[in-house]
Amino acid sequence: MSSQSPHNEHTPLLTTVIITQPRPSSRFHSAGTSATLRRFCTLCLAFTLVVVLILFLVPAHYFPGVTSPSSSAPSYHSSFSSRGLGYEELKQILLRTPDEGKVREWSEYYTSGPHLAGRNKSQAEWTREKWEGWGVPSVLEEYEVWINYPVSHRLALVKTDGQNDGEGEERQGKGVEVIYEASLEEDVLPEDPTTGLDDRVMTFHGYGASGNVTARYVYANFGTFWDFEDLVNAGVELRGNIALVKYGRGFRGLKVRRAEQLGMVGVVIYTDPQEDGEILEQNGYETYPDGPARNPSSVQRGSVQYIICGDPTTPGYASKPGVERIDPNGTVPNIPSLPISYRDALPILKALNGHGPKASEFNKYWQGGKLDYKGVEYSIGPSPAGLELDLMVEHEYVITPQWDVIGIINGTLQDEVVILGNHRDAWIAGGAGDPNSGSAALNEVIRSFGEALKLGWKPLRTIVFASWDGEEYGLIGSTEWVEEYMPWLKETAVAYLNVDVGTRGPSFEAAASPLLNKALYEATSAVQSPNQTVEGQTVRDLWDGRVRTMGSGSDFTAFQDFAGIPSVDLGFASDSKSAVYHYHSNYDSFAWMDRFGDSDWHYHVTITKVWALFAAALVETPVIQLNVTDYAIGLQHYLQSVKYNASVSTLMDQSVGEESFPILDEAVLSLYDAALAFDAKAESLAKAVQEGLPWWQRWWSGAQMYRSVKAVNDAYKYFERQFLFAKGLDSRPLFKHVVFAPGIWTGYSGATFPGLIESIDNGDMENVKRWTAIIKEKIDQATALIS
Ligand SMILES: *[C@@H]1O[C@H](CO)[C@@H](O)[C@H](O)[C@H]1NC(C)=O
Ligand SMILES: *[C@@H]1O[C@H](CO)[C@@H](O)[C@H](O)[C@H]1NC(C)=O
Ligand SMILES: *[C@@H]1O[C@H](CO)[C@@H](O)[C@H](O)[C@H]1NC(C)=O
Ligand SMILES: *[C@@H]1O[C@H](CO)[C@@H](O)[C@H](O)[C@H]1NC(C)=O
Ligand SMILES: *[C@@H]1O[C@H](CO)[C@@H](O)[C@H](O)[C@H]1NC(C)=O
Ligand SMILES: *[C@@H]1O[C@H](CO)[C@@H](O)[C@H](O)[C@H]1NC(C)=O
Ligand SMILES: *[C@@H]1O[C@H](CO)[C@@H](O)[C@H](O)[C@H]1NC(C)=O
Repeated sequence: MSSQSPHNEHTPLLTTVIITQPRPSSRFHSAGTSATLRRFCTLCLAFTLVVVLILFLVPAHYFPGVTSPSSSAPSYHSSFSSRGLGYEELKQILLRTPDEGKVREWSEYYTSGPHLAGRNKSQAEWTREKWEGWGVPSVLEEYEVWINYPVSHRLALVKTDGQNDGEGEERQGKGVEVIYEASLEEDVLPEDPTTGLDDRVMTFHGYGASGNVTARYVYANFGTFWDFEDLVNAGVELRGNIALVKYGRGFRGLKVRRAEQLGMVGVVIYTDPQEDGEILEQNGYETYPDGPARNPSSVQRGSVQYIICGDPTTPGYASKPGVERIDPNGTVPNIPSLPISYRDALPILKALNGHGPKASEFNKYWQGGKLDYKGVEYSIGPSPAGLELDLMVEHEYVITPQWDVIGIINGTLQDEVVILGNHRDAWIAGGAGDPNSGSAALNEVIRSFGEALKLGWKPLRTIVFASWDGEEYGLIGSTEWVEEYMPWLKETAVAYLNVDVGTRGPSFEAAASPLLNKALYEATSAVQSPNQTVEGQTVRDLWDGRVRTMGSGSDFTAFQDFAGIPSVDLGFASDSKSAVYHYHSNYDSFAWMDRFGDSDWHYHVTITKVWALFAAALVETPVIQLNVTDYAIGLQHYLQSVKYNASVSTLMDQSVGEESFPILDEAVLSLYDAALAFDAKAESLAKAVQEGLPWWQRWWSGAQMYRSVKAVNDAYKYFERQFLFAKGLDSRPLFKHVVFAPGIWTGYSGATFPGLIESIDNGDMENVKRWTAIIKEKIDQATALIS
């Protein structure tokens, strides 16, 4: 904690306190004669009067520690915040404002027309106008980004004369018989109007390559790094062939990336009902729209970018008009890929029956495909000579504007900022789950804070609301914005609170920096669950309390991994018994949400309340509700996991581990000790603030208390930033955080201590030592900050 000069004023608030103070002491020394005594007495009387006047007439919030005669609310708190409203009153407003009818209305608006990244400015403007209408000044922030839109596509299973050399080359004048022409279309359903829009979005892959290849093909399970390793080890011919893989178990771009590295010429990704839990046709469930099981024609669109963060032509800086762009080669695929439905995949899978080894002969990760009841044997292939796939994809690549909507409520403390964000763009006209359940919730969060503003409330800290564009292609809108405002964010940001899919089922999930665990538990404990078996159960009561580690896959990534801002990602997910969620498909629609996903719209309202209360907890209390002990405990767990992985790795020189890990153990232990003491100090300070000071200590001690709070808050605010390493990770220099990163071969799920794990996985012992030193330095820096 740094000590500051008593005249170091941080806010207009403190200035007011000092200016209104009378200065009696200088007069005191001039006393001596009776005239001066009389003058002294008069002065004393005057002074007392002034004090009494100040105490009773000037509003209580100017005085740290003074309980206002007209208010029973804790007083020091009100000095920090809430002209007009106390924290408890604010919470009541945030709990009673969100409304089922309203979220339904916002959802219906967003999901009524296509809103692919960069293609729907009117939704951005509509959003901005709504926010302004609720009293939150808002602007559009425009970026010019490099992305693709689909032009045409084709996939066919063909019989050739068998002379194709397997390098995917064009057959000149060879006879071709089409065995199956894939529809590449999702069925138009009368029950679901947006599935039949004329301008509905074609099935395609964001950042996919254009190409036209004809080649034999191989079934490669989920197409994970390890699945491809298994095929290589089994001697299955991959080079020159097309991979047919399932969605699931990792980010789709990494499936294409590995196939490209192995010399494959194209990738077809289909959705196997394997990931649909118990809600399967073969278990007696009807398919959507007649029932909750997957519609067989549903297709998962999605990005196949390799680096998953921002415009690939402007890494590390904002895509403003006229900026220099780099060649994106290496960050996006060079081989064509297409997403298809399981109905389109069936004939292609069945044509492999009897060719090559069977998946069932492989390890446990290869088991469990659910199309056996349709006659699929899950043979691996390759397909025999003469049985090939024609894969043609044409994309148009453009540099085009995108629009983030940014709204701001200025707080009393403008150098402490909490940011709430959700993306608005979707792959389809719908997007009722992803992302517009979150967009509907964000609108209700803002409308709720707007209600408080109408009552004269002003937050203690500044709140920023963001509706991002371009998330789906690669977290573009949020990443470009973080890149543009990096210096300001590093100076001021306290936390980033993300909601992407607000709800698609009943099961609450959260991933967070451990700094935010405390506020997360508080917010979820304050909101009633929509699904109570015992009356009064909160969201916290029905949640297992497991906070997942930060990976990637949504807009928190640049905040957490580039800028070192503690982030959380919240939402209600499906469980194995809920209606199948049609991710990135035309059936993630308003009609589906209204019938199956959240038919009474209670979960939309619930996530709204959790999000708003989370923000309030971070914005309104004088001592910021972060907890560094939880962070130290988190580091201990992550380190255990690294040690375990190192101990089972055949590439690890165990003597290097014996040297390195105790160094880190010790550093984390010191951090833990410092953190315990720091959080305890913060807690007692918060209590003192809450209880207020006796009247004779009110002025100068109040200012002193304010400075102590400021110092504690600064340490909390800058704590996560200590873990940034300027050069970044070895293979991904944009990613600066030494504790959290997306897994290099999983993408969505988080890797902890990525520098160490990747060095262990590469068997690079010098690098294990190097990363041990880097991480130790960062932990020590964090310890020093709070000591
Ligand atoms: C933009 O979204 C609105 C509301 O969902 C929709 O009505 C409109 O058709 C969309 N515009 C375009 C150009 O797709
Ligand atoms: C793709 O290749 C096939 C076979 O080589 C050819 O017949 C077809 O015209 C090509 N399509 C396009 C759009 O180039
Ligand atoms: C792109 O990079 C790959 C290696 O990642 C290389 O083989 C290829 O030639 C490059 N293509 C272009 C057009 O630079
Ligand atoms: C919020 O504060 C900033 C910085 O002091 C100022 O530029 C901006 O005009 C303020 N916005 C509103 C709506 O008061
Ligand atoms: C209610 O919660 C239970 C688990 O506690 C879950 O199985 C069920 O699907 C939920 N029902 C609804 C309607 O959310
Ligand atoms: C350790 O390995 C397991 C299993 O492969 C993996 O799930 C986990 O994420 C790894 N731990 C770390 C810290 O990478
Ligand atoms: C911080 O977290 C630790 C560990 O969860 C807990 O014991 C402690 O009470 C927390 N302190 C505060 C002030 O929340």
